Amino acid sequence: MSSSQGNGLLKGKKGIIFGALDERSIAWRVALACHREGAEFVLSNAPIALRLGQLNGLSEATNAPVIPCDVSSEEDVDKLIQDVKEKFGKIDFILHAIGMSPNIRKKKEYTDLDYRFFQQSLDISAISLHKILHYATEVHDIVNDGGSVVALSYIGAQRIFSKYSDMNDAKALLESIARNYGSRLGAKKIRVNTISQGPTMTSAGSGIKGFDGMFLFAEKLSPLGNPSADDCADYCVAMFSDLTRMVTMQNLFHDGGFSSNGISEELISDLAKMYSQDDGLS
Ligand SMILES: NC(=O)c1ccc[n+]([C@@H]2O[C@H](COP(=O)([O-])OP(=O)(O)OC[C@H]3O[C@@H](n4cnc5c(N)ncnc54)[C@H](O)[C@@H]3O)[C@@H](O)[C@H]2O)c1
Repeated sequence: MSSSQGNGLLKGKKGIIFGALDERSIAWRVALACHREGAEFVLSNAPIALRLGQLNGLSEATNAPVIPCDVSSEEDVDKLIQDVKEKFGKIDFILHAIGMSPNIRKKKEYTDLDYRFFQQSLDISAISLHKILHYATEVHDIVNDGGSVVALSYIGAQRIFSKYSDMNDAKALLESIARNYGSRLGAKKIRVNTISQGPTMTSAGSGIKGFDGMFLFAEKLSPLGNPSADDCADYCVAMFSDLTRMVTMQNLFHDGGFSSNGISEELISDLAKMYSQDDGLS
């Protein structure tokens, strides 16, 4: 476990952290952990989120400039990367912690999606990783050799969680883009990975109908329980550090063992109790 003083794992490294909205956000916790480990970074989020959120407090606490960027706008991404280049020159890490589904927000069923919203889900939650990598590596060449890029994903990319609707598809695309880019950036020793985080109580997480049920189920199935946003932040620090320099094109489950466990003793006992109650009623 990291000490509260940090271990200097990211000393001298610079980066961009996308997606910190409020103090529950995974990106917010990653920013605090990166600061603790000695990194310097730019914080970025959509202009609307900057107005609604509390990013200024985080910016002060971590001495990090804030640069607005709506990742659905190619122009915004281009400008952000140019601004980062002006401030920092080259950088070493990028965190993509961006996800949004207008269909889920508007309670559209998967079998009755609004296709304009569907495009937005894919664009904001997945294709944005491609755009960021395109402008950061191909156009403005701001990522140092040996750099590390992490995007946050969810197991819905492999197995369908009905309430996660079109975000299942967005995460599958996100993970594929990470692999596709990772295979190309290997020549510069730049790593691209996704971290598949277990359910976490954040603004995006709790916006999903039935999230409490998914959270509890995962908590009971995972041998280690659900990972917190701070746990995820420590894993991101490890992935940004040189200690993981040979890891790329991976989808790394950070889920307390959920993805490999079939059933748990606790769930068996809960189900047995439930069925015996049912028997009692019939
Ligand atoms: N919370 C969970 O259970 C969970 C589990 C696995 C993966 N994730 C992923 O973690 C990442 C971070 O989510 P979170 O749970 O911390 O929630 P969050 O709501 O705090 O973060 C989502 C962020 O995406 C930003 N965003 C949305 N549209 C944008 C746009 N057009 N341009 C730029 N930014 C935009 C939001 O402003 C917000 O900061 C997401 O990719 C999410 O899918 C979350």
